[in-house]
Amino acid sequence: GSEPVESTPEVSVPTEQTPGDVQIYTIGIDGEYPPYSFIDTEGNAQGFDVESAKWIAKNQGFEVEFQPLAWDGIIPALLAGKIDMVYSGMTITDERYEKVNFSSPYLQVDQGLAFNNDSEFTTEDFRAGKTVVGAQRGTTGAIWTEENLVATGLMSADNLKYYDNFPSVVTDLQNKRIDVAIYDVPSLRDAIAGKPMEIRDQIDTGEVYGVAIRKEDTELLEKMNTGLENLMADPYWQELLEEYKLV
Ligand code: ARG
Repeated sequence: GSEPVESTPEVSVPTEQTPGDVQIYTIGIDGEYPPYSFIDTEGNAQGFDVESAKWIAKNQGFEVEFQPLAWDGIIPALLAGKIDMVYSGMTITDERYEKVNFSSPYLQVDQGLAFNNDSEFTTEDFRAGKTVVGAQRGTTGAIWTEENLVATGLMSADNLKYYDNFPSVVTDLQNKRIDVAIYDVPSLRDAIAGKPMEIRDQIDTGEVYGVAIRKEDTELLEKMNTGLENLMADPYWQELLEEYKLV
């Protein structure tokens, strides 16, 4: 019993008529960033941003693939063409804008400060630079602390500890190697759920999320903006916000 060999008909099809000739974009994500993007136990990308991207792709007639990458190297990966966009809770900042373009904003967040429940430190101690702070490298939480506490001389640079991912910040908080963890509130809430920790303060940074795209990819930017606009006007947007506890 031999397997039937599948024969390919020798018919040439003009490329513009080839079915499946759909543009595929690779989306860079942080694979450990719930509720926006994370890799589940089966290795699939999940999360609010992942589902949003899939909806937009369908709406705009392209396909998407997800590529988990280290957060700190994600803009270099975009510039090098390893990925086509970053859709992973990325705050629009002036510094990032110098290198890449951003879609219209789609969510607004504050920074949160998590402490161990039994911690004697207060949020005033944090703001006076008297605590050891843990932050994920390259995040706006790390940058806020650098600019407002370290650069002002309130806090020693040694007391700001950097991590490549947020789960290790939480582990070190639990082990009391740091006193405070700073991160985007919804993700912080998610990360400390079920742990003996609490969010004692929020910093209203006024920051908003956008999808990062290379400056020259103006066509993709337009598709993403139209797709986002359509998504946010669709009832599915509200469903997603509820599903990922963002309302
Ligand atoms: N919104 C913050 C920033 O842009 C934190 C992002 C962390 N995102 C992530 N995918 N790890 O820096």
